[in-house]
Amino acid sequence: MVVTLQDALILTYTSAKRNALRRGSGGVGSRKTTPGTGMPFFLSCDSGTLFGTTAEDRGDGRVRERQISMKFFIDSANLNEIKQVAEMGLVDGVTTNPSLLAKEGKGFKATIQEICSIVDGPVSAEVVTSDNAEQMLKEAHIVSSWHPNVVVKIPFGPEGMKAVKKLSEEGIKTNVTLLFSVPQALIAAKAGATFLSNFVGRVDDLGGEGMVAVRDSVNMVHEYEFDSEVLVASVRSPQHIVEAVRAGAQIATIPFKILELLYKHPLTTSGIATFTEDFKKSGLNFD
Ligand code: E4P
Repeated sequence: MVVTLQDALILTYTSAKRNALRRGSGGVGSRKTTPGTGMPFFLSCDSGTLFGTTAEDRGDGRVRERQISMKFFIDSANLNEIKQVAEMGLVDGVTTNPSLLAKEGKGFKATIQEICSIVDGPVSAEVVTSDNAEQMLKEAHIVSSWHPNVVVKIPFGPEGMKAVKKLSEEGIKTNVTLLFSVPQALIAAKAGATFLSNFVGRVDDLGGEGMVAVRDSVNMVHEYEFDSEVLVASVRSPQHIVEAVRAGAQIATIPFKILELLYKHPLTTSGIATFTEDFKKSGLNFD
């Protein structure tokens, strides 16, 4: 029983991903944005699913692949949580940060490598230095040597952006973290960041509206045709996911307890109970 936008997102995502995997491709479709609202909607998927990429004519003779569904990353360094989410078939990647790793109390390298063995997707590992590009590059090369799926997480700042530019030239993927504004996201995209981690919860905690920068950054990336993807970070509630969908964000990194909440709705629970009871009471069966 699909009741809310987040129910619909999980449902379409799960079946679409399964179908896409079965076909060995991401599927083909097209995506449009509802004028005035920024709300993405989806059209003409060949497989009837809402997942994958669409070939988009850029108008200059070149064709650009465009993702048409939101990727879910789990925001955690807890191996049990990551395993559970991987089993749900919902996880496309993992983000960690020094605070999340410190909570787990295991080694940095061992934890990241273990995560990479569970999830086949980008796994962010953060450098600790933030004020010296040379040192950041040293740390970046260490973490990226741990596994091919490691994405180097770099705190935003002038030294960090020097490091991102160099890493991008070397073909090493980066996730620029602690972004709170469009100018910051623009600088990170120009430096060649793979992911732009735009924090929403920390802004909302201060009475601000964190999603404003996400919406503007998504538009900015599309308008200027950057390859960077906007990653909604610091997610605190299912409502943040609803707003991230409306903004057309490419990725949301979600804490385990929020991912669990995305499944829940009292009307789904009561609806299932009623259907089951009515079926049993009526004597219906599958024969
Ligand atoms: C993810 O990459 C960020 O580090 C994380 O989402 C921050 O979340 P918080 O604001 O809840 O610490």
